[in-house]
Amino acid sequence: MSHLIAPSMLSADFGHLQSDIEMINNSQADWFHLDIMDGNFVPNLSIGFPVLKVIAKYATKPLDIHLMINNPDLYIERFCVEAKASWLTVHYEACTHLHRTLQSIKKMNVKTGVSLNPHTPVEVLEDILCETDLVLLMSVNPGFGGQKFIERTYPKIEKLKKMIAKQQLNTLIEVDGGVDLMNYKQLLNAGADVLVCGNAVFASDCPADTIAQLKKI
Ligand code: DX5
Ligand code: ZN
Repeated sequence: MSHLIAPSMLSADFGHLQSDIEMINNSQADWFHLDIMDGNFVPNLSIGFPVLKVIAKYATKPLDIHLMINNPDLYIERFCVEAKASWLTVHYEACTHLHRTLQSIKKMNVKTGVSLNPHTPVEVLEDILCETDLVLLMSVNPGFGGQKFIERTYPKIEKLKKMIAKQQLNTLIEVDGGVDLMNYKQLLNAGADVLVCGNAVFASDCPADTIAQLKKI
């Protein structure tokens, strides 16, 4: 499988949201990456259901929803039904009963994701890997776009790739934070399958061209 690009709408122009959605629809991007923050798990707030529903209405590509919230169980059904998630990712650090949370997502026929903060070792996933379709490795501290990439992410990707191979799984590795045209090839070489790009896409002169470049191997 060739790698996937998921532009993060956190860096979009919310004054012209529909045109940014259409830009992604018409680009070589694969998914929409949508960051949900609760001001509790992370020190920031982002968008909620009213905006998500607008994105779901106009987007023609799968919605990859990244929940940076405590107690995600409260809202799983709404993210799956109202916000039309194709992929729903929760944080390992925010879920006391992660196995149960993943089962709730699966019941909605939505693909499951587990995210790890930069300080969380991939080994904690050993006994839950077979229950998740995707692992999202945070390569910045979650909460804000436009931060500096944390280099330690590379060995984490390599280690996780080996764990996935050992268990003979098809789990995707997604990398989120500080991904750009300078580091994306090294991330793919390390074993990343999905790259989230916020600032690198939306702050560029031509976002659609930047997406096309990020798709090149
Ligand atoms: C950060 C979010 C990211 C963010 C990435 O907490 O999870 O998805 O939008 O933005 P960049 O690519 O600018 O680091
Ligand atoms: Zn994200």
